[in-house]
Amino acid sequence: MLFIKNLVYHPPATPEAILKQINLELGTQEMGLIIGPSGSGKSTLLEILSGLATPTSGTLHWRRQALAPSDLQQLAGLVFQFPERHFCGGSVVEELRLGHPEISTDQVYQALESVGLEQLSLHTSPQSLSGGQQRRLALAVQLIRQPHLLLLDEPTAGLDWSMRRQLMQVLKGLKQHWSLLAVTHEPAELLEIADRCWLIQNGRVESISPQDLKQRLSVNALDPFHDAAPSVS
Ligand SMILES: Nc1ncnc2c1ncn2[C@@H]1O[C@H](COP(=O)(O)OP(=O)(O)OP(=O)(O)O)[C@@H](O)[C@H]1O
Ligand SMILES: [Mg+2]
Repeated sequence: MLFIKNLVYHPPATPEAILKQINLELGTQEMGLIIGPSGSGKSTLLEILSGLATPTSGTLHWRRQALAPSDLQQLAGLVFQFPERHFCGGSVVEELRLGHPEISTDQVYQALESVGLEQLSLHTSPQSLSGGQQRRLALAVQLIRQPHLLLLDEPTAGLDWSMRRQLMQVLKGLKQHWSLLAVTHEPAELLEIADRCWLIQNGRVESISPQDLKQRLSVNALDPFHDAAPSVS
């Protein structure tokens, strides 16, 4: 279980804090969804949770263990937005083993199976895969390290309808073993498999139940931060 308490991120160069007093809890085998507009702090929060940036204040715990950035680098796996742009292996197996030559062929097959890519030849070039396959390979690259917490930055961005449906099935399966936390500004499908939701705006996070969020989006899809569209007189 991940506990974030009073987390603030205020780099010296910015006039105002990017993340402000964030409190959030996420259980194991749960999928959390953070929704917010561009520039609200979503990617910055994931950078902190993956140990790439150090918070200014506040605490992070996994169960009772306090987490420093180096612990987070072990615990969490971050799938960047458009992860396929960062592929640099010449083949699927090379991509999965990058930085981890000790990884066995069994582990490679297990990781591919967990994202539904077990049929793929290990020698296929990642660049020749479809958009949906590339996205699933990017998940496998993180899963092969067996992280407890899988962090996803805009996982559905740029995928067509059928690839998004496939990805939802994969994420639903992964949720049975890991904690998942996704950030997005297009929540539609992700909301169907989310157990906990938050809205983030200007660095502030507010908890909202998935049911209430669905309701708000159906009333005001463009601006879920307000209960209803302003009445027109
Ligand atoms: N290292 C940094 N130094 C200064 N400002 C930063 C830094 N990183 C992010 N910011 C600023 O913090 C704010 C939040 O950025 P962030 O990338 O987290 O937003 P986001 O919600 O992921 O947006 P998008 O939906 O466009 O990806 C922005 O105003 C951005 O310019
Ligand atoms: Mg972002």
